[in-house]
Amino acid sequence: MSPLWTSDEVAQALTGARIAAAFVADGVTFDSRAVAKGDLFFALKGETSDGHDFVADALKRGAAAAVVSRNVEGAGGTLIRVPDTMKALVELGRAGRRRSSARIASVTGSVGKTSTKDALRAVLSAQAPTSASAASYNNHVGVPISLARLPRQARYGVFEIGMNHPGEIEPLARQVEAHVGVITNVGPVHIGHMGSEEAIADEKACLFAGMAPGAVAVLNRDNRHFDRLAAHARRFGVARIVSFGRSELADARLLSCSLQDSGSDVAALIHGRRIEYRLGAAGEHWVLNSVAALAVVEALGADLTQAAAALATVSASPGRGARRVLKFGGGTVEFLDESYNANPVSVRAMLAVLARTTPVAGGRRLLVLGDMRELGEGADAYHAGLADAVASSGAAQVFLCGPHMQALWRKLAPAQRAAHRPDSAALAGEVAAALRAGDVIAVKGSLGSKMKAVVDAIVAASDGEVGR
Ligand SMILES: Nc1ncnc2c1ncn2[C@@H]1O[C@H](COP(=O)(O)OP(=O)(O)O)[C@@H](O)[C@H]1O
Ligand SMILES: [Mg+2]
Repeated sequence: MSPLWTSDEVAQALTGARIAAAFVADGVTFDSRAVAKGDLFFALKGETSDGHDFVADALKRGAAAAVVSRNVEGAGGTLIRVPDTMKALVELGRAGRRRSSARIASVTGSVGKTSTKDALRAVLSAQAPTSASAASYNNHVGVPISLARLPRQARYGVFEIGMNHPGEIEPLARQVEAHVGVITNVGPVHIGHMGSEEAIADEKACLFAGMAPGAVAVLNRDNRHFDRLAAHARRFGVARIVSFGRSELADARLLSCSLQDSGSDVAALIHGRRIEYRLGAAGEHWVLNSVAALAVVEALGADLTQAAAALATVSASPGRGARRVLKFGGGTVEFLDESYNANPVSVRAMLAVLARTTPVAGGRRLLVLGDMRELGEGADAYHAGLADAVASSGAAQVFLCGPHMQALWRKLAPAQRAAHRPDSAALAGEVAAALRAGDVIAVKGSLGSKMKAVVDAIVAASDGEVGR
């Protein structure tokens, strides 16, 4: 198999590059701790660290060469000097994209980007060589690095694009130059930086900037910003708009689903064709992500029936709804680990899953929520606004932490109130002490709320994980 990059190709792609010696690279990375043998290492300047300090380390770990913008003493390997390493990474990404004959999809949205991207990776890889962004590699570094990792033999490429601030999506979308772009949904996420949901919609729509000729926009028909997004898509010159959702008007329409703890049975009508499939990930939000994925599959020109069948293999990942079963006090505890992130949309999705998860006889539903960050001035109102969903989740006891969760605490039914503490560290022990065999427990909060402290306390109080 031909290497990902030869030194000649790198020399051609990077403006003003001076390459010390010939090499071939099989991967691209900027994290010296994650260097695999044969990787091309980019020394990037971050806010707190400078990759140039880790060049020697990266080369020692087997990097094929390192891209640098200043001299590195005693690096002990092949160096590629460029004027600006970040610009060089973007150039290599562009080169990776340009040489590719793959059909390319881009994914953005307020929630569900990684889930939808991973579902697409799973269903497309079952058909042909597919490359997709790792984890949530969706920013100014993650996107070009994902493009630079696109193997020349890939037939499909799937790229996640994210944003925290206005203006971030368009340059990334132009790098990806997708054939099909999907916006999973628009909601109040990072609204503190963005001002309004409309501003978020306008920013997300920049996904359609600089797409390949004949491009398709895939949009959520149920979202209240659908018309706004469609207008933007047309303005950006997309050739076709495909909608998905529960709406009768949707081109990819969810007809019905039977939701279970281990996944769902789904019936959908995709461009008039009825398709029934099993989805391996639980939750109604996942069902909609899967319908969106099938709309993308059709737009890419891949096989729909085969893709639908492969959805059975899709499951939620750790911290994003993956279910864990813990041995506990002679029985078990079911643990919905959503500790990775939280916003008003995803917390509601999780509460709906909790509501449908029935504890075994004698067990209860316990709910642990930490602050949702980056919600700006309306933060307290968004927290308080979860009260109805918490009430209908069936949680017997609710544990909250963080200053904004005080607003939700005030709205809780007295019977549901277990504790509200300033931070997760203060709450963790109490949560673990409250657990009993048979309980179902769900934990969610923004990364900054450090809900991992609670997760760790729960796992430590248990007698280990079942099935691992
Ligand atoms: N379509 C959706 N609607 C609502 N919530 C969702 C949806 N898809 C995923 N989620 C929730 O959002 C969380 C983050 O999902 P993820 O796919 O990682 O989103 P992103 O990459 O956009 O941050 C998941 O844990 C899940 O709770
Ligand atoms: Mg993500």
